[in-house]
Amino acid sequence: MAVTASRIASAPALDVERVRRDFPILERSVNGRPLVYLDSAASAQRPLPVLRAVEYYETHTHANVHRGVHALSQAATEAYEGARERVRRFINAQSTREIIFVRGTTEGINLVAQAYARPRLGPGDEILITGLEHHANIVPWQMVRDQTGCTLKVAPINRRGEVELDRFLSLLSPRTRVVAIAHVSNALGTILPVKRMIDAAHAHGAVVLVDGAQAIPHSSVDVRALGCDFYAFSGHKLYGPTGIGVLYGREELLATMPPWQGGGDMIRTVSFEETTYNELPWKFEAGTPNISGVVGLAAAMDYVESLGLEAIAAHEQRLLEHATRELERIPGIEIIGTAPHKAAVLSFTMQGVHPHDLGTILDAEGVAVRTGHHCAMPVMTFFDIPATARASFGCYSTEAEVASLAAALRKAREVFT
Ligand code: ALA
Repeated sequence: MAVTASRIASAPALDVERVRRDFPILERSVNGRPLVYLDSAASAQRPLPVLRAVEYYETHTHANVHRGVHALSQAATEAYEGARERVRRFINAQSTREIIFVRGTTEGINLVAQAYARPRLGPGDEILITGLEHHANIVPWQMVRDQTGCTLKVAPINRRGEVELDRFLSLLSPRTRVVAIAHVSNALGTILPVKRMIDAAHAHGAVVLVDGAQAIPHSSVDVRALGCDFYAFSGHKLYGPTGIGVLYGREELLATMPPWQGGGDMIRTVSFEETTYNELPWKFEAGTPNISGVVGLAAAMDYVESLGLEAIAAHEQRLLEHATRELERIPGIEIIGTAPHKAAVLSFTMQGVHPHDLGTILDAEGVAVRTGHHCAMPVMTFFDIPATARASFGCYSTEAEVASLAAALRKAREVFT
């Protein structure tokens, strides 16, 4: 998904002012200043079509799914299962049986860790991750390590914030059973060469999970072209609701996996002696699901496709380059993560100013950025810093907002020096 100069030049332009009108929250002020929302990597804002789809569902259609012959239950089931087909098309999966609705990326990864890895792995087996991972793609594998006695290996990163590909490749062996990698680093924005990593892992017989949380809003993802075995992402980074996400899994793998959670809807028959399980994908969806979240997610997919993912990616890439140049001009700023291929994330520190203090000053200016370790403490440890400030961009972000960020940073510099 690396965004090349020619792709930027040839992508259709995004009419950002029109896009912004779809996001009512962007009109509000914060601390008496117009909101400058530069925290889309934590959670993107929702456009009107998503808000309306959820409202329409809640006010006209809501009932439980798969459980009633009455009209509303059938309409809710159609909305829910229709959304599954929408997701299938969005990521080009082979079948809706491969689309599992989960709470978010975190739950998707935990599902694979517990239902794929835990029953299969033991001492001598290895799981390989990278030094760029979010805690959600570290901790579930540590849990499997502790449960099974397998080994967890970590491919190191370099000072640009890239995975050392040679080291990654050299850590693969026939002992590697699972490889779990981010598509895009949430802390630094680095785009990983996942296709190459997947192919190499497969050559050693490993199964590959991709954490797509930060990639899915910025590029079109084709799980069959990537060839990954599992791909997890969250709705709320894609302009959809919170509390809903997707785990894609290749059907032949999902079919061999035991259910992860037990309860309603995931069963075929239950007696006190024995339970038989439902088919895919429902085998992995115990309990009443987040139906309105699913409806909102499908609307978000319609929305980003109506703007065009290439157009969004090119717009964000221009903005990232512009913001990088602007911040480099501010004394004392150091950009953390300087890989040539990055998505719409700009992490930085200001000499002599703790990122939390920086975040507070920016907030007083109406500028929302995330500060902290970004749920990627090993990345901070590698760079020997406690935290960074992180500006992240979405389809509605503008050059004027980058100017506001730069002005607020100059002000912070004056306050602290
Ligand atoms: N994982 C989200 C982030 O990067 C919350 O901010």
